[in-house]
Amino acid sequence: MAIRVVVAGAKGRTGSHIVQGVLAHADMELVGGVDPQGVGEVLGSGVRVTSPNELGNLLKEAKPQVLVDFTNAAAAVENVKIAAQQNVKLVVGTTGFSAEQFKELETAITGHVSAIISPNFSIGVNVFWNLIAEAARQLHTYQYHMEVIELHHAHKKDAPSGTALKAAELLAAYLPAADRRFVYGRQGMTGERTQEEIGIHAIRAGEIVGEHTVLYAGNGERLEITHRAQSRDAFALGALTAIAWIHGKAECRIFSMAEMLRELEVA
Ligand SMILES: NC(=O)c1ccc[n+]([C@@H]2O[C@H](COP(=O)([O-])OP(=O)(O)OC[C@H]3O[C@@H](n4cnc5c(N)ncnc54)[C@H](O)[C@@H]3O)[C@@H](O)[C@H]2O)c1
Repeated sequence: MAIRVVVAGAKGRTGSHIVQGVLAHADMELVGGVDPQGVGEVLGSGVRVTSPNELGNLLKEAKPQVLVDFTNAAAAVENVKIAAQQNVKLVVGTTGFSAEQFKELETAITGHVSAIISPNFSIGVNVFWNLIAEAARQLHTYQYHMEVIELHHAHKKDAPSGTALKAAELLAAYLPAADRRFVYGRQGMTGERTQEEIGIHAIRAGEIVGEHTVLYAGNGERLEITHRAQSRDAFALGALTAIAWIHGKAECRIFSMAEMLRELEVA
């Protein structure tokens, strides 16, 4: 039986790729698309765009097994609450959650439904996170300075990106907890850089899909690890894998993409 999927943010830059991916997938069926833009437009196979106000009714009528959310932080929190109440499993790619909003997601999900949440669903970025953590583990002993640089299109609403923040957190694990701090861009008389800071820099320009670099600078050398997303298909592919994977989970909690990839690697 095909997995019944609703996509929230169906008309968005990333959501529309996921809609196409679900429509093309032999083992998935698109049973709804939600977006305040293009309400009533046909997405494919008779499925029309539904207004966010109607999400609760849509879930009752279309009975999806998985809701995918690529919207914005405030919208995602509401969508997750509604879906979790109706036991619809979740794949959440939305970024920019405040600590309070993330707590709301945890409360809505834990003990109620299975969910996978990742600030980046590309397989390459998940490998990038492993590589940058390993490089930090090896280089921090030698006092290398570590900086994160991310580039995105002009329309992106949150900065720094969720992917860059996760990268910075992975690096920070190798700095003394009491002294480490994130510095967002630099301006004016900043004084010398300290060993314990991690600079995070967000560039917004044109239609860049998404690039992340971690730079490690030591005496007389510099190492850079870079991931470049060239098409949103990279996110859609990972999200489709996540739909199938979370559909098979019974445990009601938030899973990470790393857990999924580890399990699929072993399988
Ligand atoms: N995890 C990942 O791999 C990944 C990849 C790309 C983007 N993102 C994140 O996904 C989110 C969307 O990014 P984008 O570039 O596609 O943005 P976008 O602005 O192109 O798309 C968002 C869509 O959500 C719609 N929307 C707003 N409120 C809604 C609601 N209540 N219900 C349903 N739809 C609603 C908007 O109308 C829009 O069409 C952002 O948070 C972005 O950072 C994550």
